[in-house]
Amino acid sequence: MEFHVLTIFPEMFKGFLNESILKKAQGKGVIKIVLHDIRDYSKDKHRKVDDTPYGGGAGMVFTPQPLFDCIKAVKKIAKKAPVIYLTPKGKRLTQTRVERLSIKPACRQARFTQLILLCGHYEGIDQRVIDKLVDMEISIGDYVLSGGEIAAMVIIDAVSRLVPGAIGREASHEEETFSKKLRRKKEYPHYTKPAVFRGMKVPDVLLSGNHAEIEKWRMRHLR
Ligand code: 6GU
Repeated sequence: MEFHVLTIFPEMFKGFLNESILKKAQGKGVIKIVLHDIRDYSKDKHRKVDDTPYGGGAGMVFTPQPLFDCIKAVKKIAKKAPVIYLTPKGKRLTQTRVERLSIKPACRQARFTQLILLCGHYEGIDQRVIDKLVDMEISIGDYVLSGGEIAAMVIIDAVSRLVPGAIGREASHEEETFSKKLRRKKEYPHYTKPAVFRGMKVPDVLLSGNHAEIEKWRMRHLR
């Protein structure tokens, strides 16, 4: 699975990409993340990418030229990838949408092997870019962030962990119980060593080795 991130702040991604599951998954070649600095495509001598809005009003807007050239260039590498624009006005990201974006084999819906994630800033981007080149607009929740970068990281994380081989134990996410009705993940309580901590004991059944009883206990305690 390949992610192409279009951003004016590529440095924001460095720490995030080089830790934990994403670091391992990239090491294994299961996922690949390519950062593209939108400023590199600006034809302006000061690498300018924004300007004041026609019609007046507060804030700045991404000009179309750097975005058109950047998206066109990335599309040459990622030919069939949808262009996803991260914006608070987009459709809300849900686990169902995450599954549709990933290449989870069990998922029968449309899936992709490459994604192009466009991070907006300021008041937004010139509408002509959205009309001509954007396939999908996604928001990660009902609040406003100063830019799309954190949202792009959320998508990369959520999609990557569904890619086969990305998580150490293949079945890790299959074991999770996802409540369709409540639209949230259900979990049983987890305990690890020591068996007694500050006088608080781990439930006996979990130490019993009786897998049938353990499974029953876990199902009873799903929350
Ligand atoms: Cl995708 N972008 C921005 N700027 N703010 C957001 C968002 C995205 N999702 C929720 N808030």
